[in-house]
Amino acid sequence: MYEKVLTKDINMPESRKLAYYEKVGGYRSWKKALKEMDPDAVIELVKASKLRGRGGAGFPTGVKWGFVPKSTDKPHYMLVNADESEPGTFKDRLLMAGMPHSTIEGAAIGSYAIRANTCYIYIRGEFVREARILEEAIAEAYAKGYLGKNIFGSGYDLDMYVHRGAGAYICGEETGLIESLEGKRGWPRTKPPFPAIEGVFRCPTIVNNVETLACVPYILERGAEWFAGIGPESGPGPKLYCLSGHVEKPGVYEDAMGLPLRKLIYEYGGGILNGKKLKAVIPGGSSVPVLTADEIDVDMDFDSLAKIGSMLGSAGCIVMDEDTDMVNTLLNIAHFYRHESCGQCTPCREGTTWAEKVLHKIKSGHGTMKDVDLLYEISGNIGTRTICPLGDAAAMPIESFVRKFRHEFEAYVTKEVEVA
Ligand SMILES: Cc1cc2nc3c(=O)[nH]c(=O)nc-3n(C[C@H](O)[C@H](O)[C@H](O)COP(=O)(O)O)c2cc1C
Repeated sequence: MYEKVLTKDINMPESRKLAYYEKVGGYRSWKKALKEMDPDAVIELVKASKLRGRGGAGFPTGVKWGFVPKSTDKPHYMLVNADESEPGTFKDRLLMAGMPHSTIEGAAIGSYAIRANTCYIYIRGEFVREARILEEAIAEAYAKGYLGKNIFGSGYDLDMYVHRGAGAYICGEETGLIESLEGKRGWPRTKPPFPAIEGVFRCPTIVNNVETLACVPYILERGAEWFAGIGPESGPGPKLYCLSGHVEKPGVYEDAMGLPLRKLIYEYGGGILNGKKLKAVIPGGSSVPVLTADEIDVDMDFDSLAKIGSMLGSAGCIVMDEDTDMVNTLLNIAHFYRHESCGQCTPCREGTTWAEKVLHKIKSGHGTMKDVDLLYEISGNIGTRTICPLGDAAAMPIESFVRKFRHEFEAYVTKEVEVA
């Protein structure tokens, strides 16, 4: 039986307050890190926990922290990715609004581990309420000496700031975020150099997701073995799953990594809305390949979903019932990626625009069978030779929707579907 960790004590609005957070054990790990551990010991512990990033790519957190040079001839920076821009994803928002101090504590421990004295929480522009809540929580943390100069007499200084973005999907991509934080247009950078070597202000930088960092205080408190023992060995830990679309009870659900998708939909979600049948599920935010109804006997973890050709991504699970028009749904998704492509790389800029046009043509009853094939061809070319993975993010839904629900696209061509 899984016992909740990340959301166990969320009890809004009280749980936003420092006093409440301290009452449930908050900031004990921060004190422990500063008083009992050197930065490298923190990195080793997080490596041993096998924590993998919750922002989408699933990169091992401790390993990433270990890439930051030990020398401090240049300042180091910790950036908290609170952009949460992937459609279908709303877990970080819950953490920040419900218990902002767990993100702050995790970010502080991460900053210490990578020898950063400055941490920015980059939050999407639309999250006005969450930004205010974080700012209030940071002020409380300064007042209590958890942030600022010479924290707990350790000689370690840490400043933390909330930086509001303007609400662009691309600014969730770590190098787009870095550019935006520097005050520029959020155009991703080519890698290498990776941010750990050359990130914000051309200094060593780590970008971590909110949920990733919120896990860290619990790893210090309960140990790496405890964390590594929750769920699959290759990517364990507590996990927040976002459930939306045609389910009776949408919401954020916490369970162990590797929760069976069927359980998420039918037990947590209460089944398909109005007793209808399931048609499809996007398991990890709109950018990952769609699953059909007979593919839901899979565990929600990095490897299990990759094995069946999809991804855990941001664990934004979007459920679609039997009446969902897959052509219309894909058009909606394609419209989003066309709008959010930063325009820097030709395959992504032109490919997303072209795909949306072709989908409009099919949807309005003017498409041909060649257009259905053309969607495949376009998707195969968008993601190649681009600076960042937004091209892939746009291509994966197109390819999987057309492959798995081709008959619905063809039905528009043969006019079996009445065009509105
Ligand atoms: C187009 C695009 C959008 C992204 N949006 C987000 C986001 O909103 N939040 C996030 O944490 N990661 C996002 N990512 C992933 C980040 O680039 C990066 O991998 C992540 O913040 C690293 O943190 P983690 O290791 O803790 O997962 C996005 C990636 C891409 C390509």
